[in-house]
Amino acid sequence: MQITFLGHASLLIKIGNNTILVDPFISGNEKTVGIIDIKDLKPDYILVTHAHQDHILDVEVIAKNTGALIVSNYEIATYYENKGYKVHPMNHGGNWTFDFGNLKYVNAVHTSSFPDGSYGGQPGGFVLSAEDKHIYIAGDTALTMDMKLIPLTTKLNLAILPIGDNFTMGIDDAILASDFVECKNILGYHYDTFGYIEIDQDRAIQKFTKADKKLHLLKIGKSITI
Ligand code: NI
Ligand code: MN
Repeated sequence: MQITFLGHASLLIKIGNNTILVDPFISGNEKTVGIIDIKDLKPDYILVTHAHQDHILDVEVIAKNTGALIVSNYEIATYYENKGYKVHPMNHGGNWTFDFGNLKYVNAVHTSSFPDGSYGGQPGGFVLSAEDKHIYIAGDTALTMDMKLIPLTTKLNLAILPIGDNFTMGIDDAILASDFVECKNILGYHYDTFGYIEIDQDRAIQKFTKADKKLHLLKIGKSITI
């Protein structure tokens, strides 16, 4: 499984012949200019954790270009279904096996309104299982005790956690989150995109190292393989 960081909370995951795009916010992220062009993205699936602009901005244009299946909570899926897109609705605690592997939609503590004010359901994250590997895509969330439920059923190989603070967990809570999900291998996201979420990257890596964990911070367009 190859995971490419597309900036902010956007990820491109390759599993065999399948390409899965998560929370596409690229055309509105000036840090991706000259590195990522949404016209080059050809996902089979688009996963959406919640309805905020910095997670959905490019969903429609990419779904229109590719016919990708949009997977999200019931309210977000219905919102796109009503606009004519192909969707798969889920809700918290539910699993579904897709042709690339299994997804579970899990709890997040955050909010989830669309930019136009319409209701985006409750926010979530995904546990993705494929090729005998398991990853947790936390979405935007606070540290929450619900994270302790994940290792009861799943031994994670990688946890993708927000670390930018202000709108989500910051670094110290993300270290606790990695304890809660029982995974020492962390990919940080949702940081340094705009002013509210700027971090000191070296300090963040040092703090994780001191806690006996590995924090990966990828440059935009770079990948990690698990
Ligand atoms: Ni958000
Ligand atoms: Mn966000």
